[in-house]
Amino acid sequence: MAFRLFGKKKLPAAQTTSRLTSLPQTIAQEDPIQSKEKIISGRRFLSNEDYVFPKDFPESERLNFQHFFLRSLLKGNYAAPFSVSARAILDVGCGTGIWVRELAQEFPNAHVTGVDLEVSTISASSLLNCHYVSANVVQGLPFPDQQFDFVHQRLLVAALPAKDWPRAVSELVRVTKKGGWVELVDAADAFVKTGPLTEKMMGWWRLAGAKTGFDASQLTRLDLFLLNAGLQSVKQEVVPVPLSWGGHVGDLMGKDMLAIFGNLRALVCTRLQLVSQKEFDQTLDALPTEWAAYQTQFHFFVAYGQKV
Ligand SMILES: C[S@@+](CC[C@H](N)C(=O)[O-])C[C@H]1O[C@@H](n2cnc3c(N)ncnc32)[C@H](O)[C@@H]1O
Repeated sequence: MAFRLFGKKKLPAAQTTSRLTSLPQTIAQEDPIQSKEKIISGRRFLSNEDYVFPKDFPESERLNFQHFFLRSLLKGNYAAPFSVSARAILDVGCGTGIWVRELAQEFPNAHVTGVDLEVSTISASSLLNCHYVSANVVQGLPFPDQQFDFVHQRLLVAALPAKDWPRAVSELVRVTKKGGWVELVDAADAFVKTGPLTEKMMGWWRLAGAKTGFDASQLTRLDLFLLNAGLQSVKQEVVPVPLSWGGHVGDLMGKDMLAIFGNLRALVCTRLQLVSQKEFDQTLDALPTEWAAYQTQFHFFVAYGQKV
C-alpha cells in the first residue's frame, strides 16, 4: 500500500497465504537479554539498554493502539515508493511486531523481518513470511550488506541516544540493497502553541535527555540523517496532530501523549529524581485541559530516501 503523501489508498485485506513456505514461520527466537530486566513503580524495563520506555503488557497495548492511530493518520503503513516486487523488508525496533505482520500480509511474496532488543514477547503468528530477530541496531544488525529492498524504523526517539543516531542510520543503509529505500518515522520534542504545563513536562524530558544523552530536537530533521548516510531522492514530511481537541484524531493523540509522558515517570521521578511523583502526576493530569485551551499540536516526522 503506497503512500499517504500521494493520495489516500485503501488498506489491504488480510492475506494469510505465502509462496515462501520454505522461510521460517513467524516465531520469536531466543532473547539473550531476556532475563536482564528491572521493575520500577510496577512497570517492567530492560535493565541493560538505553531504552527508557517500559517493556511490558500496558506498553504493548499502547504501541498497538498507536500503530492503528498512526496508520490512519499517515494513511498507510509506509511512505517510501519502494517496488511492489520487493522480496525482503526489514523493520528495526519492531516493538509488538504489528507492522511486520501487516507488511507480511500486504506483500505475500516478500519476507518481512522484525528486529528488536527483545523479541521473545512478540506474539507468534500463522504467517509464513515473517520472523523476528533479537539485535541492537547500534551494535550492528546481524545481516549482510544489501539484503533488503525496504528498511523501516519507527519511533526510536526514546531508544537511541543522540550520539547513536548516525551509527544506527548507517546500519539501516548498509543492509539496504542498491535501489532500495530507507524510511524513518519519528517524533521529536515538537509541540506548537504550548502552555506552561506542556513546557514544564518538556523541560523535565529535556533535562532527563541532557543527563542521559538523548536529544529529541534533532529528530525534526530525519532527512538530514538520511542525506548524511548517502541516500538520494530524500523527502521529509511534517505531520501535525491536535492534542485533546479537534475531534477523534485529537482525542486519540491526547491519550497516546499522556501514556508517552507517563512512560517517562520512572526516568524523571525515580531514576533521575528531577521532580516528585506527585508533582509529575498533577502536571500530567492537567495537560489535556491545557492542550484543549491552547489548541496545542504535536508533530510527527516521516522521511525516506533511496540507496543508489
Ligand atoms: C517506541 S517502540 C516502537 C515500536 C514500533 N517501531 C512501533 O512503531 O510500534 C521502540 C522499540 O524499539 C526497540 N528498541 C529500543 N532500542 C533499540 C535498539 N538499540 N535496537 C533495536 N531495537 C531497539 C524497543 O525494544 C521497542 O520495542
